Amino acid sequence: MAGEKVHLTGAKETLLMTLYGKALESRMPDSLLGDHFADTAVRKIDYDFSRLKVDENLGIGLAIRAKTLDVRVEDFLARNPEAIVLHLGCGLDTRFFRVDPPPGVDWFDVDYPEVIELRRKLYPTRDHYHLIASSVTEPGLLAGVPRHRLAIVVAEGLTPYLPADEGLRLLSR
Ligand SMILES: C[S@@+](CC[C@H](N)C(=O)[O-])C[C@H]1O[C@@H](n2cnc3c(N)ncnc32)[C@H](O)[C@@H]1O
Repeated sequence: MAGEKVHLTGAKETLLMTLYGKALESRMPDSLLGDHFADTAVRKIDYDFSRLKVDENLGIGLAIRAKTLDVRVEDFLARNPEAIVLHLGCGLDTRFFRVDPPPGVDWFDVDYPEVIELRRKLYPTRDHYHLIASSVTEPGLLAGVPRHRLAIVVAEGLTPYLPADEGLRLLSR
């Protein structure tokens, strides 16, 4: 089967580094993250990952960062099983599948339209799992997100790509 071709540039292309790092770490015998969803996605993508110069060491660092955030989200959802998760600049990260939230949770993965289109091709859908195809800097970003429920906001590896004033506007929104 021919793989999914990707043509991402700039900040969007960096999602391939984090995805590949997590996939490499998941292949290690004592993997911390065990992100076999990332590994499966990498195998479906037609792209020369060797050009990214990502090795197992970087993968371990990325896995520690991702696991730290997964544990925070799991802890929050265990205490608030009807909450919302807003996952900004999600890239192809598979946190939703790793965390496997309780059925009362509504989860929103947000990234640029090209990235969300790729997610739709690579990952399954599920009830209460929503994709928002938008820059996080768009004023209408939260239009479809319920405002009166507890929420946790996760942004992993996103802020380096946001100008400071945009980042502050996003936080205040
Ligand atoms: C280094 S990747 C991290 C991806 C994912 N969070 C992870 O840890 O694997 C940076 C991500 O931020 C996204 N991004 C950067 N600027 C963005 C913006 N203004 N709006 C939405 N997504 C953005 C990119 O498309 C990319 O998916």
